[in-house]
Amino acid sequence: MRKNAALARSLIINQLADGEFYSGEALGELTGLSRSAIANHIKYLGSIGLDIYSVKGRGYKLAQAIELLRADKIVSQSNSLTTDKLEVLSIIDSTNTYIKSRLQELPNGYICLAEAQTQGRGRRGRPWVSPFGSSIYMSMCWTFAGGYQSMVGLSLLVGIGINRVLMKYGLRDCKLKWPNDVYHNGKKLAGVLVEVEGQVGSDASAIIGIGINVLLPRHVQGIDQPFTDIYTALDKQIDRNLFIAELADTLHSMLREFENKGLTPFIPEWKAADLFYDKYVYLLAGKNQMHGVSKGINESGALLLECNGMITPHHGGEISVRHG
Ligand code: BTN
Repeated sequence: MRKNAALARSLIINQLADGEFYSGEALGELTGLSRSAIANHIKYLGSIGLDIYSVKGRGYKLAQAIELLRADKIVSQSNSLTTDKLEVLSIIDSTNTYIKSRLQELPNGYICLAEAQTQGRGRRGRPWVSPFGSSIYMSMCWTFAGGYQSMVGLSLLVGIGINRVLMKYGLRDCKLKWPNDVYHNGKKLAGVLVEVEGQVGSDASAIIGIGINVLLPRHVQGIDQPFTDIYTALDKQIDRNLFIAELADTLHSMLREFENKGLTPFIPEWKAADLFYDKYVYLLAGKNQMHGVSKGINESGALLLECNGMITPHHGGEISVRHG
């Protein structure tokens, strides 16, 4: 994208963020562009999920005001973050991809956030629909001196961390679906994608990608499963900046504990929120399908399935209560 196009879009978004009307003429003056150029940018912003409508004679308006992400606000509310460890981007392909390509130069605990992703990635090669300003798209890098082995169970830890913060916000009835999805009322509210970089026998780095639905646009498209957002679950808007600061601090302290003790101290928390505990489930792992009664997780985060009186651990796959 041309730099001046990015700048113009960012000026337009900053102006519209308060939810008031702005005429094409006023936006044109702000950016130094013609009204038809403004109309094109508005069209593009609509295509990345901004719910903008136009009224003849009044101009453009966002359906809902947005509190934009602000690095200074996040840092000032956080105990663990400093300005050199946080980057807020506007529109990016994927925050995980961004961190991955800069891993060598980034300090441990570095966090990248974006307002929108054009190629957000989910688990198992699925896309993660990432409309502008309506969710949290966050990636964090964390290096483990003990290599791959010391990351076992990491993605479950992150799901537990998200749930901790949601509880602080008064959402006490979220559930965790193995391995790391956060659900509310049977619908997905957040997901985690952990990617690992490193060589066997040396340090390894995890890129911890987190997507949390905050206030999705009314007509969001392309999500292939039942979903919800924090706004629906809590029946009120939250400030993403404060939520992110809380989440960064929570993950920071949990990761320190995890480095020393592994997943074991967190298992009771997992169990208390386990969506499928004691339920009959189907586990799809590659081409194999297994079924049995879910008995929670072990200390390495493996799913425990009871079948014919025997409990066995399973490390990968996707579970559901329906035959796949
Ligand atoms: C899933 O449940 O499938 C995992 C979703 C993870 C989405 C997040 S959004 C921030 C980060 N960047 C990505 O491209 N993906 C993760």
